[in-house]
Amino acid sequence: MGRSTIIFKNRRLKYNIMPKIIFLPHDELCPEGAVIENIKSGESICDVANENDIFIEHSCEKSCACTTCHIHIREGGESLNEADELEDDMLDKAWGLDMDSRLSCQTILADKDLVVEIPKHTINMVSEAK
Ligand code: FES
Repeated sequence: MGRSTIIFKNRRLKYNIMPKIIFLPHDELCPEGAVIENIKSGESICDVANENDIFIEHSCEKSCACTTCHIHIREGGESLNEADELEDDMLDKAWGLDMDSRLSCQTILADKDLVVEIPKHTINMVSEAK
């Protein structure tokens, strides 16, 4: 995964693609937005974010049993693994669901750059506010 071949002057070169993720500004988690570069493909977006001080909630410890790690993939989503049935079922419960929605703990970075938006609220925040 994440390994590509390019042909340069009739020579095949293999290299590890290091995509980047652009996080759009989020009032609390990254007010200025963030660009994370040189990421190894194969990591979950949740892990990448948290390793880079963007704290995406992950209440179920990334076991696809909550929706607190919900994100929107605004660009590059076609390169990612497809959501399975369990992820789709969980997403139906997410706050602010749209066509770009994914659970970041289940979304594995491939070889393309991504633009990611973190929703303003998670279902935890919404339920705590009631
Ligand atoms: S952390 Fe619970 S589904 Fe991702």
